[in-house]
Amino acid sequence: MKVLIVGSGGREHAIAVSVAKSPRVDKIYCAPGNAGIASIAECVPIAAMDFDALVAFAKEKCVDLTIVGMDDPLVGGIVDVFEAEGLRVFGPRQNAAIIEGSKAFSKELMKKYNIPTAGYETFDNADDAIKYLENAAMPIVLKADGLALGKGVLICNTLEEAKAGVKTIMLDKQFGNAGDQLVIEEFMTGREVSVLCFCDGTHIKPMTSAQDHKRALDGDKGLNTGGMGTFSPSPFYTKAVQEFCETHVYQATMDAMKAEGRPFVGILFVGLMLTKDGPKVLEYNARFGDPEAQVVLPRMTSDLVEAFEACIDGTLDQYDLQFEDNAAVCVVLASDGYPVSYGKGYAITGFEKFDAADGYYCFHAGTAFKDGQIVTNGGRVLGVTATGEDLKAARGNAYKATEWIEFENKYMRHDIGKAIDEA
Ligand code: AMP
Ligand code: GLY
Repeated sequence: MKVLIVGSGGREHAIAVSVAKSPRVDKIYCAPGNAGIASIAECVPIAAMDFDALVAFAKEKCVDLTIVGMDDPLVGGIVDVFEAEGLRVFGPRQNAAIIEGSKAFSKELMKKYNIPTAGYETFDNADDAIKYLENAAMPIVLKADGLALGKGVLICNTLEEAKAGVKTIMLDKQFGNAGDQLVIEEFMTGREVSVLCFCDGTHIKPMTSAQDHKRALDGDKGLNTGGMGTFSPSPFYTKAVQEFCETHVYQATMDAMKAEGRPFVGILFVGLMLTKDGPKVLEYNARFGDPEAQVVLPRMTSDLVEAFEACIDGTLDQYDLQFEDNAAVCVVLASDGYPVSYGKGYAITGFEKFDAADGYYCFHAGTAFKDGQIVTNGGRVLGVTATGEDLKAARGNAYKATEWIEFENKYMRHDIGKAIDEA
């Protein structure tokens, strides 16, 4: 079959590598893709938001299945557009992708269906938000309602910071229309875990767990980023936590979306905080995490394309989801200055040392071709993933492999997976 993947990040590269393993697939296209994806797929220069051009391309090439990796096209309704044209597509429809597209929606859903999450209030004007903050306990969390590249969440330690945050989101519109509404949320503490789940609208199959490192600097300091590294599985996601979440979070969310007339078909990403009062939902995403996909998918041994098809066909209960009993760590190699400002166009070397057969993957994110060379083309440049028999071995392997890659302005965190020493 012919598959089209929509997106251009490390997550889409990881999806492409797993899709390529399926014996059912004989051709992969990626729009727009990147320099790494180009080694296993034919990249076509169509933007992920250009739905008309994507539909025309899928029809022209007789694509059998389109897989949407990114949040923007999903929230923008790409799945509805493809379905209306009779094209087979994997991802939630617009009325379900809202679970990521609006934090006000997702908080309301959790409240209505008793899914554990932090207490909150929603505001549509800055004056009311500031009035509320004057009597609120600090620290407190401000969240722009809409999509903001993972950067629309501000943790404020003082009233002054919180007031400034309201101004940034609602008045200065740093995150654009995403800041039309504001969610103000109780601050929680605990370990964070990400669980990605296959969903067919009725059934849900959670994958192995992962943990992201969202801050730019070592020791979880600095600004929030799209994610600087991950490990899988999380040793803090115990059997008891898993069992609780399967019933009270994952299946409860599936049932809630169905009851709302918004059945969720696709990947539901549940960001959890393991608090002393039990697991609570931090956020939902309507797609694979990036860089969570880069540690979860290399460990998956069952066929990814069959999983997508089972979700679309509503037969996920019959799909046998399997993971290897090992571990994986991904260290993101970024451009120094990310997530604020950074240079681009620097030549990258060292790819030839990576061999997936030995458990080493170099997933491309912001890369491009220039004059026959692969060069840096974004903030997060590469995701270096290594597997190992346990987390410590995987971490050692991943950091060893980060040294194989050279480019000017290379930056990474040195403490990805440090938390596993405390497990
Ligand atoms: P989100 O995009 O909603 O997951 O938020 C990004 C990050 O902000 C999370 O991964 C947490 O580290 C942090 N965060 C979000 N909500 C809260 C909260 N209620 N309490 C503490 N930290 C939070
Ligand atoms: N790594 C977090 C995300 O993909 O949103």
